[in-house]
Amino acid sequence: MKHFLDIESLSKEQIEQLLQRAFYFKQQVQFPNFENELVAYLFYENSTRTRISFELAAHHLSMKSIIVDLKHSSESKGETIEDTIKTLGAMGIQYCVMRHSQNYLPQNLASMNQTMQIINAGDGTHAHPSQALLDIMTISEKKPDLQNLKVAIIGDVRHSRVANSFQQIALKLGIGELIFVAPPVWQFENLVYGQTCTDLKEGLQEADVVMCLRVQKERIQNEFQLDLQYYRQHYALTKEIISFAKPNALVMHPGPLNRGIEIDKEVAESKNSVILEQVSNGVFARMAIFEALVNHS
Ligand code: CP
Repeated sequence: MKHFLDIESLSKEQIEQLLQRAFYFKQQVQFPNFENELVAYLFYENSTRTRISFELAAHHLSMKSIIVDLKHSSESKGETIEDTIKTLGAMGIQYCVMRHSQNYLPQNLASMNQTMQIINAGDGTHAHPSQALLDIMTISEKKPDLQNLKVAIIGDVRHSRVANSFQQIALKLGIGELIFVAPPVWQFENLVYGQTCTDLKEGLQEADVVMCLRVQKERIQNEFQLDLQYYRQHYALTKEIISFAKPNALVMHPGPLNRGIEIDKEVAESKNSVILEQVSNGVFARMAIFEALVNHS
């Protein structure tokens, strides 16, 4: 693997290998030593989970991390992102973990003829492939029979790179049933797998996994004026509504949570919630990604 850009670019075998290595790392106390590998982080959008877990993954593998302080970098003087990447590469940095609001920017940068290996930590509304990997790791750890699962994804599907990457990984691995539940203005424009519906109770019926998406206020400001009160009334995961799913249904959320908007405390902190396990698994999934990039496997 030269870059880690999106789930579409990976084969089923590559995904399974990444998962196998992530589970392996979870069992270990000693890890491979990649002390000669240098990784830079270019985050043009905020992040807690993704950036820190990539940093921790690099730390566990003895890689050296360089956080690029974008507020004080030469991009403020007009340097292009392409030149920034080339500049970091010229200093000997081999890997760049990047998050940006522009769809497909990591793919475009990866297609430049340069040595830097690009890792997509989220591009616009397009892809969040490491999130999909940790999500499927968390699901398969608890419910390994993926072919017989029903997964319901609730919320702002249209603007969600998490939902898009999840549908891609569900397609590759053959999740039995995938349903996206969203109000009409937030339905997918690019459904490749599964079905959509607008009724939450219908979507939750017989669900083994319920993944709640964050309402992305920063992406919807002037675009789709959806009344949050209406959203909450019809789509929020409350204690009452979650009972329409199977009693042992996993509750997931990529984070950060808008408590009291898309999910209630009682659901986020219920015994079925695996939200913090998603976060823990993120470190191991990202270790597997780094290893595959270092080894070009
Ligand atoms: N899930 C996720 O991408 O969270 P962060 O924005 O905190 O990285």
